[in-house]
Amino acid sequence: MLDKPSESFSARPDGCAAGRALLDINSLTVAFNKNGRRGVVLDDISVKIPHGKIVGLVGESGCGKTVLGSSIIGLLPERGVEVVSGEINFYSGENGPYAPENLLNLNYHGMKKYRGSKISMIFQEPMSSLNPVYTAGSQIAETIKNKNYNLSKAEITARSIEMLAKAGMPDPARVYDMYPHQLSGGMRQRVVIAIALANNPDLIIADEPTTALDITVSEQILFLLYNIREKFDSSIILITHDLSVVANVCDEVYVMYRGTIVENGPAREIFTSPKNPYTIGLMESLPEAGARGKSLHVIGGNVPSIFTEIKGCKFKDRCHKARPECLEMPPVKNAGNGHYYRCHF
Ligand SMILES: Nc1ncnc2c1ncn2[C@@H]1O[C@H](COP(=O)(O)OP(=O)(O)OP(=O)(O)O)[C@@H](O)[C@H]1O
Ligand SMILES: [Mg+2]
Repeated sequence: MLDKPSESFSARPDGCAAGRALLDINSLTVAFNKNGRRGVVLDDISVKIPHGKIVGLVGESGCGKTVLGSSIIGLLPERGVEVVSGEINFYSGENGPYAPENLLNLNYHGMKKYRGSKISMIFQEPMSSLNPVYTAGSQIAETIKNKNYNLSKAEITARSIEMLAKAGMPDPARVYDMYPHQLSGGMRQRVVIAIALANNPDLIIADEPTTALDITVSEQILFLLYNIREKFDSSIILITHDLSVVANVCDEVYVMYRGTIVENGPAREIFTSPKNPYTIGLMESLPEAGARGKSLHVIGGNVPSIFTEIKGCKFKDRCHKARPECLEMPPVKNAGNGHYYRCHF
């Protein structure tokens, strides 16, 4: 069903509607079936990604962040996956400014027209997403060629070098002819970013883009993503387990725990006034909190496996506030200013 456009909306030149979500994930539930067991990995997830914003997706290892990113770009494993319910509505402009495409209705080939052109993903490990036997430049060129049959070889090469430069690569023409093993970790990540940017996507999913990098390079890459949002008018989903990474670059934040969104809202609201005990625990685990004289807090225990059945609030076994009420799933509460959280207290 289409929303009625409000008067403040204006159609962008590419047909997308400005001032509304680019991506609207609605009650998405996904399960894995393995060795006769079924585990719900994404449980009733709803996420809205506005145009031209950076949205952080935060949670500990095993919360389902990569599975959510892979669901959007249509790269869930082919076997053992069950999309139980929900929609991933993408306002690409293909069907008119107010008519989304539900990406879950598309098969692998149907997704091809979006993947790498309108939606691209920067994967967790730069080395595993680059092919070691091809030069950096040829891998960018291949991505451009796949979507621009009319460009000459010279034009594709020039655009590939331009993309390397936009990804902040020093000496991009020389790097064009280098192989991944000849590049540092930071340079490889810039090549991966150049590939992601190659066809000027509307949405970039950056999955832990800085995890393998030292602090200086990590900050440069985050600064680069921040600038990409400005220059390319792309929306970015920044996936990370580290709240401090999102503090300076994200406009909005979604906090995820064991396949559920437990809190979301404008980044400033979440950082100044977190409501859910899990979000508060993540904040207290930041090294800065210890440096200010407080003892560094650690959330005890681990994220339970998706094959462990949990009744009610998924965080209750690790939560110091847990009460008998937590055996019921907490409702979503509205804290105002676009800030929502799930907790009984
Ligand atoms: N193909 C699969 N089959 C079965 N379980 C899977 C599969 N892929 C992921 N999982 C499980 O789904 C859960 C979420 O995995 P996911 O990779 O999305 O976590 P994540 O939040 O990205 O963690 P990390 O921060 O370590 O990257 C984990 O419990 C993982 O073991
Ligand atoms: Mg992951």
